[in-house]
Amino acid sequence: MKSYIVGNWKMNFTVGESSVYLHKLSARIHAYRDIEVVVAPSLVALQPLSLQIDRKKLRLAAQTANPRDFGAYTGEVSAAQLRGIVDYCIIGHSERRQLFHESDKFIRAAVAATLRNQIKPILCVGETETERTFGETFDVLRDQVLGGLSEVSAEELEKVIIAYEPVWAISTTSGASMASPDDIAEAVKFIRRIIADAYGKEISKSIAVLYGGSVNPDNAGAYLTIPGVNGLLVGGASLIADQFVDIIETAKKVKS
Ligand code: 13P
Repeated sequence: MKSYIVGNWKMNFTVGESSVYLHKLSARIHAYRDIEVVVAPSLVALQPLSLQIDRKKLRLAAQTANPRDFGAYTGEVSAAQLRGIVDYCIIGHSERRQLFHESDKFIRAAVAATLRNQIKPILCVGETETERTFGETFDVLRDQVLGGLSEVSAEELEKVIIAYEPVWAISTTSGASMASPDDIAEAVKFIRRIIADAYGKEISKSIAVLYGGSVNPDNAGAYLTIPGVNGLLVGGASLIADQFVDIIETAKKVKS
């Protein structure tokens, strides 16, 4: 199975900076048959970058999308409008859920809207620190995975990528709040099990599940070798070319 290295730039870089960074990145990586390198720049940069990008090396993702196609939704951008510009779209990132109140209903509809518009959704799931403390991790994962996928047919499921991002492990430099490979292995196994129960064993084995949360060049190798993990969703380290390239090269080594 392919591995995915996805850089979520969040609200960083101007359009000009995004273009320069992408150019630099592109010059430093190769076209890999078994690794899909994806970057998710901010919305304003997507269209110009889509004209610049070498699709053999890199693909673009949006960071969210509105599930309605068109209409009176001031400030929003829909999956229908992103069609042809991006190949992927991050849906349900914890920052979208928490800071911008994206509901389960919104996320479920956004997953369906991206698929309808030939865009592969990267559905983010993960428990908060409080939920973890109260032993609710598996309940949260079950609700978010099954909720997010509830409008997806078994045939469409192979186009979906799931990203497990424990909220407590995002953007941390403290070793104590880094997710351990055991934590991640257990969560990813559980995610595959609920998909197996809902959609069958076959698809639960072939669906890509990524890990995200404070990934850096030093821990990427350990995270990439966790059974059941097919790639990484990288925040902070994806903004530094040396680090992101390092992570991609680690993925290449792990593959070979
Ligand atoms: P960090 O890698 O900065 O922890 O961000 C993770 C993330 O939220 C990626 O979507």
